[in-house]
Amino acid sequence: MRVAVIGMGYVGLVTACGFASFGHNVLGIEKDPEKLIKLRQKVCPFYEEGLNELLNAMISKGFINFSSDLNSVNNFDIIFITVGTPSLPNGQVDLSQIYEVLHKLVNILKKPTTLVMKSTVPPGTGLKIRRRFLRNADTRIAYLSNPEFLREGNALKDWYHPDRIIIGGEDNKAIEQIKELYKDINAPKIVMGITSAEMVKYASNAFLATKISFINEIANLCEIVGADINEVAQAVGMDKRIGAEFLKAGLGYGGSCFPKDTKGLEYISLFNGHNFNLLKAVIEVNFKQRLKAVKKLISALQGVSGKCIAILGLAFKPGTDDVRESPALDIISLLLNEGAIIKAYDPLAIENALNILGNKVIFSSNPYECVKDSHAVILVTEWTEFLKLNWSTIKLQMRSPFVIFDGRNVLNKSQLISLGFQYYGIGR
Ligand code: UDX
Repeated sequence: MRVAVIGMGYVGLVTACGFASFGHNVLGIEKDPEKLIKLRQKVCPFYEEGLNELLNAMISKGFINFSSDLNSVNNFDIIFITVGTPSLPNGQVDLSQIYEVLHKLVNILKKPTTLVMKSTVPPGTGLKIRRRFLRNADTRIAYLSNPEFLREGNALKDWYHPDRIIIGGEDNKAIEQIKELYKDINAPKIVMGITSAEMVKYASNAFLATKISFINEIANLCEIVGADINEVAQAVGMDKRIGAEFLKAGLGYGGSCFPKDTKGLEYISLFNGHNFNLLKAVIEVNFKQRLKAVKKLISALQGVSGKCIAILGLAFKPGTDDVRESPALDIISLLLNEGAIIKAYDPLAIENALNILGNKVIFSSNPYECVKDSHAVILVTEWTEFLKLNWSTIKLQMRSPFVIFDGRNVLNKSQLISLGFQYYGIGR
């Protein structure tokens, strides 16, 4: 089949390369000239394990091409929309990139086409799109919703082995066509109404975010009553009804999805006159985790003004160079405001962090250089590299009072205490 994918971000590029690897003829549309040049030179514009190799192979085989010209999608069988739907400051989902594409598409498309929405859009958007745009088109455009659930750092594995493929729509021919497109993926293909499909994505992300904030609140209570969250979470997660995943207490969630989608769903609730108190608490707890960490540090150092603090990890999670909504950025901003001197290191994300933080932070090329002369170290992202550090060497580089804040509960607490560090974790 001829498949066009509009928007070469994480979801778009993985989708495009994935369908190309099944032998489909894929065209990726990207309007950012710098990104387009990189893609044509077989360079992935962001880090994702295995994706650059796949991109290379697909271009070399001639299965995928890239263009900035939306007109070139005219003769394609299926068109995926994977453009960004960022948050506006009030939490509302900004659909302007989607509308811009649709305005153009309805004038471009001249033969019957299936249009598939993969970008995350508020429930009800698909029906509005059909009324507002597709009815006025010169040709028949079948509209489907097909939300994507891949995780950064795990994107290819998630794309090839999803738990389910959600297809929202009523057009049976288009539904069969998309099932055929996905035939090489062995996962249940669940068909439902467009609005339900849109809601599945928000409900899934909001539920996972709720699990994280819930375990963080249990961790906060563990600290007060003297329990250890690592022991508690492991045992709680062994109940199959609860499940072990997304029960890691820490500095809270970040990234391009959870913060945006929880705030988006809260706004959608408000807009529809529904008071989603549970979700409000989830969002509040998430920010509180960052604040609590900073407050603990201020108290451990008896004030941070003029003190040097080393930040290990800038990416919102390991395996990515993405710093969007990263806990590290919040913590750095809070600490800078209190007058701290910040040094930072990350195996992949320094370039992206530098674009945001500039010279407010001293960036280091390795963790040992980063901790030099620091009064405290905060482990923000649980990169494997940080689990193998030599803490005796680190102690020699640091200054008193040798504070370690383990923001992901991954370090050996008793070993660090016996080395003479002041150890702080989350709920331990
Ligand atoms: C998420 C969803 O998992 C995915 O289905 C959706 O398509 C996009 O959003 P992603 O943001 O890539 O994926 O990362 P994920 O692995 O879900 O982690 C999100 C955040 O939650 C990270 O900051 C991570 O550190 C944090 N997290 C995750 C926890 O704090 N504790 C946990 O137990 C799990």
